[in-house]
Amino acid sequence: MKELKGQDFLGIANFSANDIRDLLQLAGDLKSGKTTITCNKILGLLFYKASTRTRVSFTVAMYQLGGQVIDLNPNVTQVGRGEPICDTARVLDRYLDVLAVRTFKQEDLETFAKFATIPIINALSDLEHPCQILADLMTIQECFGTLSGLTVTYLGDGNNVANSLLLGCALLGINVRFATPPGYELDDKIIEYGRAIAGDRSEIILTEDPVAAVKGVQVVYTDVWASMGQENMADERMPIFQPYQVNGALLNEADPDAIVLHCLPAHRDEEITDAVIEGKQSRVWDQAENRMHAQKALLATLLGLV
Ligand code: CP
Repeated sequence: MKELKGQDFLGIANFSANDIRDLLQLAGDLKSGKTTITCNKILGLLFYKASTRTRVSFTVAMYQLGGQVIDLNPNVTQVGRGEPICDTARVLDRYLDVLAVRTFKQEDLETFAKFATIPIINALSDLEHPCQILADLMTIQECFGTLSGLTVTYLGDGNNVANSLLLGCALLGINVRFATPPGYELDDKIIEYGRAIAGDRSEIILTEDPVAAVKGVQVVYTDVWASMGQENMADERMPIFQPYQVNGALLNEADPDAIVLHCLPAHRDEEITDAVIEGKQSRVWDQAENRMHAQKALLATLLGLV
């Protein structure tokens, strides 16, 4: 995987299927202690939006690798006062070894990548959340021992998580279904790109019918109905998304051994019931933990440590 050194991770499809398989293997080996990696590198975290999991998992991952982290909160750095990204990127490039950015616009990430030579990581944008999907794929593989022959269903808003999930599943040949209300479908270009990547290796189904979407599947996945920055739309979305709630009745339509994933934070009794997230099929805490292992493998890969 050495050829990935210096490459950016702006979207899940920046990696090939083999890159992702290697990364998941490394993440598992790091988690089990089979592999240890040490470095003396510096990670910058520039987050324009709130975060618990991504911020803490990246920080702990880098500390465990022996590196250090600088929190570049826009409230206390000049980017928050309007310093252009092209200038910020070239300056940070001189100090840091890798930079993770959480931003409102994918375009901003691309600007960072254009003006910095260090790897730029998408820590969530309006278009994608690729680090989340690495942890999701790792969790699915841990639960089933394979990624082959599985079907994943995502219910709810066709948001950044859904976009990356579609591309990640398409890359790895996992069948995937998305049940979204009319008007809340995934990004058209992502669907087209996902279909091109998948070819005839996996089936991509887009539907408005949540019951049909979960019939017999092995993984049931959901996310909040109103993402960060959309809080003022939460009330109007509630009745539209209600049929897509992951509850006991809907989960009964899935494979009896199906697992339930949620990228968190969750709104209990909105997109997922309290009983389901706390139930025996829920794997959300393993999924959250795997953010750290997957991102440790990502950092090690992008920094050329493996
Ligand atoms: N899933 C996720 O990205 O969580 P945070 O927003 O807390 O980082």
